[in-house]
Amino acid sequence: MNPQLESAKVKVLSIPSWICRLFGPASDHTSIGKNTVSSDALIRATKPSASMALATAAGWGRGLFTLVRITMMAFRHPWQSGFAIGATLVASTFQLMIPRLLGQAVDHTQMAMSGGAAGQAAQDALLTTALLLLGASVLRGLFTMVQNYYSEAVGHHIGYELRLACYEKIQRLSFSFHDTVHSGDLITVGLLDLEGVRMYFSTALVRMILLSILIGIGAYMLLSTDIVLGLLALSFVPFVGWRSSVTQLKLRATWLDLQERLSVLTRIMEENLGGIRVVRAFAAHEHEISKFEAASKSALALAHQRVGIRVTNTSAMTFSFFAAMGLVLWVGGGKVMSGEITVGTLASFLTFMTILQMPVRQLGLMVNAFARASTCGSRLFALLDLDIAIKDAPDAKELALTDGVLRFENVSFAYPGSEKRIVLDDVSFEARRGQTIGIVGPPGSGKSTIAHLIPRFYDVSGGKITIDGQDIRKATLQSLRRAVAVVQQDSFLFTTTIENNIAYGDPWAKEGRIERASESAQLHNYVLGLPIGYGTVVGERGVSLSGGQRQRLSIARALMLKPAVMVFDDSTAAIDAATEQRIRGAMRRYAADRVTIVVAHRLSSLMHADQILFVEDGRIVERGTHEALLSLGGRYKALYDLQVRPGDEVLSA
Ligand SMILES: Nc1ncnc2c1ncn2[C@@H]1O[C@H](COP(=O)(O)OP(=O)(O)OP(=O)(O)O)[C@@H](O)[C@H]1O
Ligand SMILES: [Mg+2]
Repeated sequence: MNPQLESAKVKVLSIPSWICRLFGPASDHTSIGKNTVSSDALIRATKPSASMALATAAGWGRGLFTLVRITMMAFRHPWQSGFAIGATLVASTFQLMIPRLLGQAVDHTQMAMSGGAAGQAAQDALLTTALLLLGASVLRGLFTMVQNYYSEAVGHHIGYELRLACYEKIQRLSFSFHDTVHSGDLITVGLLDLEGVRMYFSTALVRMILLSILIGIGAYMLLSTDIVLGLLALSFVPFVGWRSSVTQLKLRATWLDLQERLSVLTRIMEENLGGIRVVRAFAAHEHEISKFEAASKSALALAHQRVGIRVTNTSAMTFSFFAAMGLVLWVGGGKVMSGEITVGTLASFLTFMTILQMPVRQLGLMVNAFARASTCGSRLFALLDLDIAIKDAPDAKELALTDGVLRFENVSFAYPGSEKRIVLDDVSFEARRGQTIGIVGPPGSGKSTIAHLIPRFYDVSGGKITIDGQDIRKATLQSLRRAVAVVQQDSFLFTTTIENNIAYGDPWAKEGRIERASESAQLHNYVLGLPIGYGTVVGERGVSLSGGQRQRLSIARALMLKPAVMVFDDSTAAIDAATEQRIRGAMRRYAADRVTIVVAHRLSSLMHADQILFVEDGRIVERGTHEALLSLGGRYKALYDLQVRPGDEVLSA
């Protein structure tokens, strides 16, 4: 495995699951798919509940632990975190010096105005104070720069590690997981939620330190100078802090709602683009536009609501600040006149208030950042903590290929999540190197399922599958999947050149091999006819190719692997009979060295097989060679008659 991925994974580690269990199951937290989630050897962490849709806020206990976990991730970069926090402490200290120095400067100015020796001394002091003020401001700026740089850097490191860990996890999660979770939801977790976690260090943690120092020490300095004036100066703090937090939390709730509405829009657009041919064919564009408009309107209404919340609260907060300032000026002015305090002290009070205003307003942003990191992190970690259903057994060994014998022994299977519906029941057969097995049967009878069990896309529910006597569950997945190639019913192509698509399983393959595989799949001549041949980029999902061309490309891709077991799952359905025959002819060369399994509806695709299995409702109901099955006169014979004779002839027979 890529060492970077390995290290990214390790960095996501954190709280042992027993600590999480102390906090009990969170009631409304996130969960992904139907997989049971548990701590795993590499990514140990919180233990989400078993059933869940991706959404909703985390419970308190879980939320707190999510935050601790992100904090621990941040401190895996001790230097950067240390610099960020250290710089925050220094920057805030310099910031706190500024009002004092400003107050002193005002007093010195006043004294200098009185003239004489004392005035001269005050003038000198004024110069010193001004220089100190300049120095404090410059240093504050510099340290704020260091603070911003390193706190952002830590966030980006966390983002990088989580992004890799998430992507790596998605690669390894089993088919059953992907069957139950919408890919759009995974993209949301991998991008939006990750952003919430990435911002945690700078917008929540470091900001909390900064605000605590500014507000805490600032308040102490004000109160210790003059308690009454201090209380008046601080009077706006509780109101603004509370309003700002409530506003931000409200905005957050509406933001989540807005995201939901925007994701509906994305889904509509995604589906529309994917199914654009169906939309056009059914002239359904007006219906599609009205659907989009309705979703768009609902997003607009919410956006208006958000603007309303923000604007009214900003005005209320600004008003309360200036009201407090007015009070300080009024009472403070009286105190200056009575000689209780100097003009400089009053000036420093007012400067303090101005300095305090921003952090107090930012309290809401900080509360929001904590809330966001906690929900986003819970969702993200729920994904990272998912137990992978199909993985290497602890004692897994490389698959040792000898005689090349594939055996199904009383295999039964039900899809995870629909355990009651038995899809395969007591399926047994054996195939040796050089043999071809044909599988035929009505739609939904379980043919593709048989194909998907061989490379362990799913694990059998009962019985076992062996290759050369080794249970495939005891072999490493990597060696198994190198040994088994499946040409899927649905051929997916990447948006890259034809050459790269064919060589997907063996990127270092020589050109000659790529061309030979393409020749066998009867694609070569077509590719040669293209202006830039194998360098032609196939469009999004390969739309520039016809269905048959796509299938032939998928066949060529599988041929590159030289597997011990080759499965064609209805992969010639879109290819005309003559081309298919040529493919079959070319395939003979390949078939001699391996087990070939051909799943097809068209009997001409598999009647040459050494053994044909007729599957119905998940059971093999007939088996034998083409001739044997014809003479049996059962279902296979009926299907054969239907395919080779004109329909009305069969119906009237
Ligand atoms: N991912 C899945 N989750 C749950 N049930 C599934 C899943 N995939 C297939 N099934 C069900 O399992 C049964 C067998 O499906 P399978 O795809 O193996 O049929 P098939 O014989 O290949 O059909 P076709 O000839 O149409 O390709 C079907 O009833 C199908 O609904
Ligand atoms: Mg199928």
